[in-house]
Amino acid sequence: MQKIIIGNWKMNPSTLEEAQALFDAIKNGIGKNSNVVICPPYVYLPLLKGLTLGAQNVSDKEKGAFTTQISAAILKDLGVKYVLVGHSESRQYLKETNEIINEKIKECLRVGLKPILCIGEDDGEDKIKVLESEITEALGGISEEQLKDIIIAYEPIFAVGTGKNCSIEETKTSVGIIKDCLAKIYTQNVADQMRIIYGGSVNSQNAKEYLENANVQGLLPGGASLKPEEFIKIVESV
Ligand code: PGA
Repeated sequence: MQKIIIGNWKMNPSTLEEAQALFDAIKNGIGKNSNVVICPPYVYLPLLKGLTLGAQNVSDKEKGAFTTQISAAILKDLGVKYVLVGHSESRQYLKETNEIINEKIKECLRVGLKPILCIGEDDGEDKIKVLESEITEALGGISEEQLKDIIIAYEPIFAVGTGKNCSIEETKTSVGIIKDCLAKIYTQNVADQMRIIYGGSVNSQNAKEYLENANVQGLLPGGASLKPEEFIKIVESV
């Protein structure tokens, strides 16, 4: 399976000029690499051209009187291909529940966007319990066929934006738990085919080791995706 690198810019940079410069630097550095996705803030999406784009969130509603929200159809029309769904920062600050995340996934799939379902426990939480409930509830009603368009991002909360990345061993264990859970809901074969990626303080120093030894098929760097040189090195480690 081809590995994928997804850069999450979060709420950065602060000006369009900087966003364009960052995007161009990445584009020039990686050439025609189709396995790279950039997730900038919504407003930059229609302006950045030449790399695969992802959004950082999406509404769970189809259309209508939902002031401030952005629908899957709007994103699709802008040429967006992927959407981060259930990122820990959206769960925390926007109080998103697994039920809402499930609706968002369904909306993405309905219009033909690929959801990247972010899951992960915090320090001190019961890993198995958190991962199982996040997977089971977020994927409720999703068929085996639909699952092929979904990526699961394992992003333990303690590792996101902290500089304290999850160890390779622990990441491998978590990926195993995610696969066991998918095998229970679907089949072992489905679980084996699922694209699972890792995110949480990924940088150019640790990227290669995850890709080679943590049983993941991609990475989701946040902070490192704002530094072109770092991000390009991460892409080159595939
Ligand atoms: P980080 O962010 O790489 O800055 O930890 C990861 C993410 O938010 O997906």
